[in-house]
Amino acid sequence: MTKAQSGKPAHTELTSDTKVTLAGRNPHAHHGYVNTPVYHASTQLYRTAEDYLAHKGPYFYGRRGTPTSEALEKAIQEIEGSACAGVALLPSGLAAISTALISVLRSGDHLLVSDSAYGPARTFCDTILSRCGITTSYYDPLIGGDIAALMQPNTRAVYAETPGSLTFEMQDIPAIAEVAHKNRALVLMDNTWAGPLYFKALEKGADLSIQSGSKYLGGHSDLMLGTVSANKETVQRLKDTAYTMGLCVGPDDMNLGLRGLRTLAVRLRQHCQSGLTVARWLEQRPEVLTVLHPALPGNPGHAIWKRDFTGASGLFSIVLKPVPEKAVLAFLDALSLFGLGVSWGGFESLVIPVDVKDCRSATKFEPGGPALRFHIGLEDVGDLIADLERGFAALAATRLSPT
Ligand SMILES: Cc1ncc(COP(=O)(O)O)c(C=O)c1O
Repeated sequence: MTKAQSGKPAHTELTSDTKVTLAGRNPHAHHGYVNTPVYHASTQLYRTAEDYLAHKGPYFYGRRGTPTSEALEKAIQEIEGSACAGVALLPSGLAAISTALISVLRSGDHLLVSDSAYGPARTFCDTILSRCGITTSYYDPLIGGDIAALMQPNTRAVYAETPGSLTFEMQDIPAIAEVAHKNRALVLMDNTWAGPLYFKALEKGADLSIQSGSKYLGGHSDLMLGTVSANKETVQRLKDTAYTMGLCVGPDDMNLGLRGLRTLAVRLRQHCQSGLTVARWLEQRPEVLTVLHPALPGNPGHAIWKRDFTGASGLFSIVLKPVPEKAVLAFLDALSLFGLGVSWGGFESLVIPVDVKDCRSATKFEPGGPALRFHIGLEDVGDLIADLERGFAALAATRLSPT
């Protein structure tokens, strides 16, 4: 219904900040309560035998969907925009990746995967897809339209992740999609870093856009969730595959996804702003060789980021000038506000050493020094910088110590 018909603005006319607060909600279908209830459900009962035989009503069985799953799917669909024809919810980001791939590939197909892709996604391709008779080859994430040279007659899909979530290469998705589509191949993309608020993957040419909802959507490091947004071309295959494989998400986890969504815009804005403040500060540090953050003007991927993205998240890497490993460990151990742990997208700051030697085959990542990945959380940015200063002091102190 448009504004003219209802007197209220259509959701499509609203900004993302407002959309995330409204999307997927229908209070008056739930006695006026603001949030959709959490349906813990398996069996759904019918009033009569006739109703049962006719499968009367919008739902059928817990695994096939409830008002809770529908609320989250619709919310994500609205935020993706008009190019999105439907969303599937999966129990983790990795399950979203594997389900999306399986939904578009069959035995005999060839798949192109970005060399910067999340490691476990590669493992899925090299093991399970390989056993299914699907071959994978890896491409340089900077390839752009030159991916044409890698297309084989049986290439049916390209799987991209931009930026790479450890090494931050930016990919030219519109150029890759143009080539892929000319060759009858589909484009799948891991859009967890920016999410649909900052990168409209489906509008830029992807046919399936994947998010680990465990990251910013959940936002509190207490959720495992995956989502796949599909266009008209891929939605039925995606839904059928998720259903046939018996994949569904627990209701409390879907509710955490919905709850996270309501504050996503404001949280992401803070992650973006604090992330850039820390990244710029790190750029000036004498111990730092380079900062791998596509929203920084000097970054090789900056032009693509500026053209296609409307924001950045709080995840980026740095490369230190060469120092012994013990200096890096001293730096990490001296930090008290940065947790040492994998994953990202929660309210808290994190840091890990970057090691991609086991997940590269088409390219080499030789940055010239030890690399560290930071997630900048929602703490005060001045406190974070003071913590990093303590880390650099500990790193410098190792130079003075005899061993
Ligand atoms: C870029 C990226 N995609 C996907 C995943 C997998 O998500 P999940 O941990 O929810 O399975 C991760 C996890 O760290 C990730 O970093």
